Amino acid sequence: MTALTLSTAAAPGLRADAIVIGVAKGAGGPSVAPGAEAVDKAYDGRLAAVLETLGASGAEGEVTKLPAPSGFKAPVVVAVGLGAEPEKDAGFDPEALRRAAGAAARALAGAKKAAFALPLAEAADAGVVAEGLLLGAYSFDAYKASAKEAKEAKGAKAKANGNGKAPLAEAALLGGKPRDKAYKAAIERAAAVAEELNRARDLVNTPPNDLDPEAFAAVAQAAAKEHGIKVQVLDEKALTKGGYGGILGVGAGSASGPRLVKLSYTSPKAKKSLAFVGKGITYDSGGISLKPAGHNETMKCDMAGAAAVFAAVVAAARLGLEVNVTGWLALAENMPSGSATRPGDVLRMYSGKTVEVLNTDAEGRLVLADALWAASQDKPDAIIDVATLTGAMMLALGSRTYGIMANDDAFRSAVHEAAEESGEPAWPMPLPEHLRKGMDSPTADIANMGERMGGGLVAGLFLREFVGEGITWAHLDIAGPAFNEGGPFGYTPKGGTGTAVRTLVRVAELAAAGELG
Ligand code: BES
Ligand code: MN
Ligand code: ZN
Repeated sequence: MTALTLSTAAAPGLRADAIVIGVAKGAGGPSVAPGAEAVDKAYDGRLAAVLETLGASGAEGEVTKLPAPSGFKAPVVVAVGLGAEPEKDAGFDPEALRRAAGAAARALAGAKKAAFALPLAEAADAGVVAEGLLLGAYSFDAYKASAKEAKEAKGAKAKANGNGKAPLAEAALLGGKPRDKAYKAAIERAAAVAEELNRARDLVNTPPNDLDPEAFAAVAQAAAKEHGIKVQVLDEKALTKGGYGGILGVGAGSASGPRLVKLSYTSPKAKKSLAFVGKGITYDSGGISLKPAGHNETMKCDMAGAAAVFAAVVAAARLGLEVNVTGWLALAENMPSGSATRPGDVLRMYSGKTVEVLNTDAEGRLVLADALWAASQDKPDAIIDVATLTGAMMLALGSRTYGIMANDDAFRSAVHEAAEESGEPAWPMPLPEHLRKGMDSPTADIANMGERMGGGLVAGLFLREFVGEGITWAHLDIAGPAFNEGGPFGYTPKGGTGTAVRTLVRVAELAAAGELG
């Protein structure tokens, strides 16, 4: 990951490949954002005019490169758009800062060192700029020939990306106060969260032939060991013994057996306990209810919920949050074969309920049901599950916003607020009682499918049945934003995005501070 420092250096004398500055969209054209005063001065105060001539408006995501003024050691200035200028006395929107830093970091792929002279009014601003740039600099090249060559060539440090360019190696935040505790804490937090989030992206991007349930469990075991997290892995034998019919039923068609991983991070000072549950379908072919071509090319992303949960638990441990956090990874591969679950089969779930499987492509709710019930046995203060659960949620909210459902309105609002603060677009969704009867089964206690209309809410209602009595629960359907099929934007790359990691970390922080409900 990009190395990050806080620096008191002045822009002109700084040895770097580029200086990043902010441009806002002012009433009368682009305006240079605070932090870039020295740069503007070196252009004789004409920087805004120069930028306007170059076509810059200050719009979000806009990147304009110009030669640095004479006397500067760095050759290039990268001006990045921050969107609308804030009201007088108000600071820049944290998400605008994150996105701008991310867009600049992407534009600087291939560079060794950049200085970021973005507006840092307070320590929190350094935190969001750091987060945005570390997330924006991400690239996934493990399977590219260029990366293989770089690895094989002795002494080659740079990891080539798909464009043959290495991610930005080093970033200095100018105007960040290196001796100020709050600033230091803010960038340390950003580094821990971004590093784990980028690892979650790596897991999502890893092809499913290299990441089956067993391999995912091994990654979790290694990380747990490194960070002092307790880990338990239930393999097929243990799942059979325990009666985890949902996870076993989904994994039955695959040559790679399912796993349930429990990660327990505990703090001696914890007053609250949280359980995070992640859908970890390492590949979703649909099973016997096979997905048609055009619908399975991106289904390696169906373990993004488990990846987010895993990353959040490790981040909580690295940050030493004073809260107990348990992560449950429900891992299986959904494949058709002679041993696969058939539409019409009835599964006896870990909770004891029976489920008639009408569609083997509605597999996420089956693995989650067992993991939710397992999580409930510890009686945590709250459970949050994260899942790429339904195409219906994508139809409802698009590909950048996830849906939040819950059995408690106040908790749903608290999670939504945590998402907003984290820069993760989310929206509350209802659990309408009338949709429950669509899942009535003539044979079993419940069917795994109901009405087509409101399919995302139907899935939420199914999950609710497997949450222990009296436990506060929220469900995040991240099917839309988990995987970016479009081009990169802000700090979001193509492919795995790491959605929900930052919401979960924020919820854990709030719980630690006694500020969660
Ligand atoms: N993993 C899919 C949902 C999904 C779709 C995630 C697109 C990301 C992008 C899930 O397992 C699924 O197949 N859901 C079905 C449920 C239906 C059969 C009730 C769906 O949404 O079509
Ligand atoms: Mn499916
Ligand atoms: Zn799925």
